[in-house]
Amino acid sequence: MCGIIGCVGHHDDTLDVVLDGLETLEYRGYDSAGVALVDDSIDVQKKQGRLEALRTEIAKRDVTPTGDVGIGHTRWSTHGPPTDANAHPHTDEAGQVAVVHNGIIENYQSLRDELEAEGVTFTSDTDTEVIPHLFAAYLETDLSTELAFHRTLERIDGSYAIAAVVAGDDRIFATRNDSPLVLGIGENQYYLASDVPAFLEYTRDVVYLDDGDVAIIDADGWDVTDGDGESVDKEVSTVTWSAEQTGKSGYEHYMLKEINEQPTALRQGLSGRLDELAGDITVEELDDVGFPETVHFVACGTSYHAALYGVELFREVGVPAQAFLASEYATGPAPIPEDGLIVGVTQSGETADTLSALREAQGRGAKTLALTNVVGSTAARECDHALYIRSGPEIGVAATKTFSSQLTALNLLAETIADNTRGSRDLVLALRDVPSDIQQVLDETTAEAIVDEYVDNESFFFIGRGLHFPVALEGALKFKEITYEHAEGFASGELKHGPLALVTSNTPVFAIVTGNDERARKTIGNVKEVEARDAPVIAVTDGQSDVERYADHVLEIPETHQRTAPMLANVQLQLVAYHMANQLGRSIDKPRNLAKSVTVE
Ligand code: M6R
Repeated sequence: MCGIIGCVGHHDDTLDVVLDGLETLEYRGYDSAGVALVDDSIDVQKKQGRLEALRTEIAKRDVTPTGDVGIGHTRWSTHGPPTDANAHPHTDEAGQVAVVHNGIIENYQSLRDELEAEGVTFTSDTDTEVIPHLFAAYLETDLSTELAFHRTLERIDGSYAIAAVVAGDDRIFATRNDSPLVLGIGENQYYLASDVPAFLEYTRDVVYLDDGDVAIIDADGWDVTDGDGESVDKEVSTVTWSAEQTGKSGYEHYMLKEINEQPTALRQGLSGRLDELAGDITVEELDDVGFPETVHFVACGTSYHAALYGVELFREVGVPAQAFLASEYATGPAPIPEDGLIVGVTQSGETADTLSALREAQGRGAKTLALTNVVGSTAARECDHALYIRSGPEIGVAATKTFSSQLTALNLLAETIADNTRGSRDLVLALRDVPSDIQQVLDETTAEAIVDEYVDNESFFFIGRGLHFPVALEGALKFKEITYEHAEGFASGELKHGPLALVTSNTPVFAIVTGNDERARKTIGNVKEVEARDAPVIAVTDGQSDVERYADHVLEIPETHQRTAPMLANVQLQLVAYHMANQLGRSIDKPRNLAKSVTVE
């Protein structure tokens, strides 16, 4: 969690580069923020609250921070509450060293005890603060600054991405272990950040750091060594995302922009992978994956819901599959199949729980595959295989277009692995048409008007069966995440086994019913059960059944394949959540207590 930015080399206004970079990273954490600019001394300014509070604080100053070297941080608290003192950067007592850090220093307490015993005074509750004190202590010895940084790193355990600056030195010292950090390579201008969009305005050439890499950047270039100071060869790659893609493009919120980007995102994800005439699906990245005995999905949150959908697909094509919450997989007694394929579904590719589960599986000899959006992410680099969903950057904390892209990619994965020729032409055509079907949903939705009627309700249910069950869970997660109202998703048939006790005229129920098969008819039976308890019913339907007769409102979707119907239903539920949150005046792109990328376990 948390976001780091750093830049070196001459910029018209280094402070602006750092603050603007932090703005793009605010989705990673937003309970405090801070900057440090380096000249002969280090000028640190930090503030509790959103980045705007820091900007206001800086604007009050007579003299703003200047220098050609700057680092910044936006925080999501782990050690110590969000206060000015706990905000990063943290410094040593003399203010000669400043450090920003993501992750957790696991042995910080013993280091703090040791430093305090030596007379060092701490000014925050954070684990991070041990780093500048240690670095400063090593600088006091005869060590060069590089070696002092290396020595400091040798003392700390845990997961981290770190950027450090020293007064009078025009370099930034950085490293990572289990937390993302990427270098941006410009011309006499170099950057580092937790995520590429932070410096995309200046360069698209990047170097992804690996665990244990130590990077030093200054106006003349960049250098990466290992923990022993030996040079490490790194590849410069070029990202295809543009700075405009990471802006709001006129939408009020990133979430709404990203919901509306779904037709494009899905076209990108399918491009070159479908052969409509032959009805074939070809995904080059999967050429050497083979046919696994069994598949285990590991994932969190929205990605876990995508994994539940994936399980159904794999079972359909004859591969036994199970989905696990990643946080339960590595630590529980999960029987990791050595001859199976473990698929980590992770938009960011940086979710700590998912990475842990994948590492545990790899350690036990299983093959792993990352289904991810972020090229060069930790999951993509560490897994044996990577399948990119190609959604483009997703900034809103609520995952929207990446969920749709995950469902699409899971179809490609299941069909490719099973080398399925049975009936896949229908599916190929349905997948081809999903982008335009979603566009139709976006153009014709009545979600905004419908939520108006329920703005005073405080509890909402979402039900679905089969492939619609994960979408019911996802609809409820999206709703609670950004509206802060209570919402639960259920397999339709489960209502009568308990939750029905909560159903009253005050609990609107969103029911997903498509087609007119046995599953649809059974869900309609469940709809009647809630209708009989006076609950308002909002049916999300393709109009093939008579569910409308029992519904107060209808959210229509076009008729499509049973595999693609959940994607269309989900778009309606995304819009329901968005419009309700907007009506309630919630912080849609940065919901309270949450962050986009959860890099702590
Ligand atoms: O990056 P990941 O897909 O691994 O993230 C997993 C979850 O943290 C994420 O899906 C989260 O549940 C979303 N913010 C929900 O909208």
